Amino acid sequence: MPGLLSSAELDRAEIESLMQAASQPTRCSQAKWYGAVVALLFFEQSLRTRVGFESASVRLGAATTSVIASKQSDQMAVPETLDDTVRCLAPYCDVICLRHPDEQVPARVARLVETPVLNCGNGTDEHPTQALVDLLAIHDIRGAIDGTRIALVGDLRHMRSAHSLLVTLARFDGVYVRCVAPAGLGIPERYATAYLRAGNALEHVDVLDLDDTDIVYVAGLPSTVRNGVSIADQERFRIDRAVLERLPSRVRILSPLPRVDEIDSEIDAFPQAGYFRQSALGLAMRMAILERALRDAPSPHCNQP
Ligand code: CP
Repeated sequence: MPGLLSSAELDRAEIESLMQAASQPTRCSQAKWYGAVVALLFFEQSLRTRVGFESASVRLGAATTSVIASKQSDQMAVPETLDDTVRCLAPYCDVICLRHPDEQVPARVARLVETPVLNCGNGTDEHPTQALVDLLAIHDIRGAIDGTRIALVGDLRHMRSAHSLLVTLARFDGVYVRCVAPAGLGIPERYATAYLRAGNALEHVDVLDLDDTDIVYVAGLPSTVRNGVSIADQERFRIDRAVLERLPSRVRILSPLPRVDEIDSEIDAFPQAGYFRQSALGLAMRMAILERALRDAPSPHCNQP
């Protein structure tokens, strides 16, 4: 199973193996995947995931090809379907990193082609590679995921990173998750159910109650036309200096980023601000994820030094 469509596909052994691989610093100088090609197929904006996978590919010795504007647009002379695009793209590459606003698309693409597909964000559903980055960051802070007490904060209904993280946390023991979201923007039942199957604790609150947690994961609370986030909600759930000063010094603030102003930039210099370190760790984790996919990719690549 070399691709990755959903966090539900990852068992504990696989997560730990990826975290172990991502923790080996010498891997960065290796170029053992020379001749392999990683396709970056992004139908939504991305900085960290797209550039992270691009940089990870280069550091592994693989090349990347980026399909940003294919002939999908009406402005192109001959509009082309997504299905045709990926059928043509797949034989040219060894892994497809795909982000798409439609929830169904990564699974549909994976059924069409043999090339491993990494879901880099599908609508408001999941972002499984981000969850692996998040777990690595939690492990980096605490030395373990077991026993973590974490608050997921923001629009948990729509923020896909929170969904994937919650599902992966189910693989660990003694985890406590507090879902901290405005009324009506709580985490959808299906992700909560996937987490609760493991018997870990879950609580839902609609006020910014962060007491007795180790990690505050700010999933995002952007206001868009569709999602029903009010200015008052954004102010109530913002992490600023006053909030930080009420928390024990051991607490770390994480976020998949980008932020709008869910985290006041005033706290960036505080030791509790872990989100830029988390973002930096994403490179090593994306290298590990790519290697896992490349090892099992069906197409032969030129694996030469
Ligand atoms: N965390 C994350 O997915 O960031 P990007 O949208 O920049 O990829």
